[in-house]
Amino acid sequence: MAPPLRLGVNVDHVATLRAARGTPYPDPVRAALLAAEAGADNITAHLREDRRHIVDTDIARLMAEIPVPLNMEMAATEEMLAIAANHRPHAVCLVPERREERTTEGGLDVTSQPGVLRDVIARLSAAGTRVSLFIEPDPAQVREAMTLGASAVELHTGAYCDARQSEGDGARAAAELDRIHAAAAEAGQHGVACHAGHGLTEETVGAVAAVAEIVELNIGHALIGEAVFSGLETAIERMRAAMHGGRAHAVEAAT
Ligand code: PXP
Repeated sequence: MAPPLRLGVNVDHVATLRAARGTPYPDPVRAALLAAEAGADNITAHLREDRRHIVDTDIARLMAEIPVPLNMEMAATEEMLAIAANHRPHAVCLVPERREERTTEGGLDVTSQPGVLRDVIARLSAAGTRVSLFIEPDPAQVREAMTLGASAVELHTGAYCDARQSEGDGARAAAELDRIHAAAAEAGQHGVACHAGHGLTEETVGAVAAVAEIVELNIGHALIGEAVFSGLETAIERMRAAMHGGRAHAVEAAT
């Protein structure tokens, strides 16, 4: 039977709205508290180098106020390591970062900077933080992540979601979903926890939730967007329902 599937709610997008007007509201910590009440298993927040949405005080407040684990997304830099060492979040997801990008556009190329990543993973792990690497759904990247000591990988689902949203691109979507299945199977074989996220919506989450090795999904943009119309709790409940619907197929396939 497929293991349970956790939902991490990414609150960056609430902070993006706050930054658009330079006001103290809307408060991403308030969103995180509501999300936890609505059943989020963890909260995800990305402290970017340019502090364009989440800021340092948000991380401090999230650590102090939320009743569920914090998954801090960050680049593998000394500055971010010092912040993580100070707050000791439950988990860190290492992501690539480019200032000019609108969002995290691709996965980390784990093979291009193994020395840096091995060192960062070792230092975070020694402080008791679970480390995942945000990677393209590629079995070779999964194997490399494992050799670097990561306890988890987060598979980038953006290409799959983009293909699903492009009319008439069913073949590309199927190929992208196959890549996710292959990478997840590789993680399962090596005992690396498999997470996934980026671009997931109520429409696209089911097929990813059906991948039996995946144990955690991190979702932000679609949830916060839908919350404008139906409220955050309802948006989370509906996303959960879509996840459960997809997961049921994984259970059927495994039995
Ligand atoms: N996982 C990672 C590593 C991310 O960088 C993001 C985007 O911040 C997400 C998940 C969530 O993506 P989305 O906001 O598109 O749901």
